[in-house]
Amino acid sequence: DETLQIRASLLEWYDENQRDLPWRRISERDKRGYAVWVSEVMLQQTRVSTVIDYFNRWMNKWPTLHHLAQASLEEVNEMWAGLGYYRRAQFLLEGAKELAEGGGSFPETVSDLRKIKGIGEYTAGAIASIAFKKAVPVVDGNVVRVISRLKAISANPKDAATVETFWKLAGQLVDPCRPGDFNQALMELGATLCSLSNPGCAACPISAQCHVLSLSRQSESVHVTDY
Ligand code: ADE
Repeated sequence: DETLQIRASLLEWYDENQRDLPWRRISERDKRGYAVWVSEVMLQQTRVSTVIDYFNRWMNKWPTLHHLAQASLEEVNEMWAGLGYYRRAQFLLEGAKELAEGGGSFPETVSDLRKIKGIGEYTAGAIASIAFKKAVPVVDGNVVRVISRLKAISANPKDAATVETFWKLAGQLVDPCRPGDFNQALMELGATLCSLSNPGCAACPISAQCHVLSLSRQSESVHVTDY
């Protein structure tokens, strides 16, 4: 059916086209949660190309959660300089201290991750799916655009009820075998081919399943840029 087609095509595209990013190369289980956490917090409101250097420097200085937990706020702010929204760095430090003091293993589920200060639904979903293979959705602005086009939903993306709809739809779409790859593929598709203006539909792996694309072929009144 359509969902299975979307999963298969998107994952195949991701396997061939995914960018080689440093946080995708970390394999040790105990480091993965921490690395995905750091990278996803950095990626909020900052472009991938900028984040790469910051991420590498951060991981060199604080390779594990326990290293970070020993850092001072001044050191963390210094490392963050240029990324903006310093609250994000502060939350990382506070969260690391909280977890290190707790002494347990790194939380792996959305509900446990959400208990950490500064970890919201997006970050929890990203860590749980990418680092720990939990079949949970991740919705950012790019994912909203991809799904709105895919399902031809012309709702206001700033509306709280709309946002809830997209989390539900993303939860139905996510591939249960490769949730982290699937979520990153959706984000990456939205950041590249499925751009706001001039989307590259001709090269899109899921154009055959895209409702707005088929609609705009039939009728001039609907254009992908409306979404
Ligand atoms: N944007 C935010 N997080 C991302 C990720 N893990 N992969 C691709 N794009 C992203």
